[in-house]
Amino acid sequence: MVPRLIVVTGASAGIGKATAKRFADNNDKVLLIARGRDRLTRAVEEIEASVPGADLEPLALDLSDAASAQTLQHHIKATGLPVNSLLCCAGSVPRSEGGPEGTDVAATLTEWQEAYEANVLTSVIAVEGLLPLMSDGGSVVLYSSVAAYRGSGGTGGYGAAKAALHSYVHTLATRLGPRGISANAIAPGYVAGTELFGDGLPAARETMLVRQTALRRAGEPAEIAELGFYLCSPPGGYVTSQILQINGGSHHGA
Ligand SMILES: NC(=O)c1ccc[n+]([C@@H]2O[C@H](COP(=O)([O-])OP(=O)(O)OC[C@H]3O[C@@H](n4cnc5c(N)ncnc54)[C@H](OP(=O)(O)O)[C@@H]3O)[C@@H](O)[C@H]2O)c1
Repeated sequence: MVPRLIVVTGASAGIGKATAKRFADNNDKVLLIARGRDRLTRAVEEIEASVPGADLEPLALDLSDAASAQTLQHHIKATGLPVNSLLCCAGSVPRSEGGPEGTDVAATLTEWQEAYEANVLTSVIAVEGLLPLMSDGGSVVLYSSVAAYRGSGGTGGYGAAKAALHSYVHTLATRLGPRGISANAIAPGYVAGTELFGDGLPAARETMLVRQTALRRAGEPAEIAELGFYLCSPPGGYVTSQILQINGGSHHGA
């Protein structure tokens, strides 16, 4: 049987790495994308160690650069396989933060631009670059956040960027439905064991985030990966144009 080709962006750490492993466990061929080559190589080695014979291919790319779409297309064409599913985990929290209200408009703009580039454009570039190379019946999954519902730190650029993905998912679902391609977003709450917060959250903030959940614990990357896997597999084929929240009850549904 010809393996499915799955593309996972942001696959060198956290949720993306767990997602790449989940598909490798299923004997899919996985293309793993991230900017940093060394961390990407380590992620591939880690997955290969736990999934012997895994068919993994790393590709170092900055997906906030539009030129990466072409590089990605060349790479996919060289595999000779259509893309079955694309999971856009690449994203980050802006390092810069706008000042207190009205004090620093320039810093606020920088925060919003960084958030938009890192969380929206990385998805748009990967999706629009790969759509012509996707097989009918495949799936696109974008990664939002509970912050899209509740707001985020700084002056809110991160949460707003994630909310922009919701609208994009609905547009994609309508555009791609006739090809049998589903498009959904996963909106996680706090997930431990990722590198999204650099060296980690301050203990007090982490305790507060865990206390906000009904289940009194953080999510795990493998739990988010399982939902992505479901959306890209036949049993999840009728789910499209949805934002699926997975947050231990820290934010009520809908
Ligand atoms: N962790 C959480 O609690 C949480 C909660 C809600 C939503 N999310 C969302 O879930 C997704 C995954 O988060 P995570 O926690 O797994 O983050 P993470 O551990 O920081 O991993 C992010 C991945 O994205 C890659 N990346 C970042 N910018 C990129 C770019 N411009 N081009 C290509 N790759 C890029 C990173 O590698 P390089 O830096 O080497 O490129 C890394 O592989 C993100 O969209 C995040 O916003 C996470």
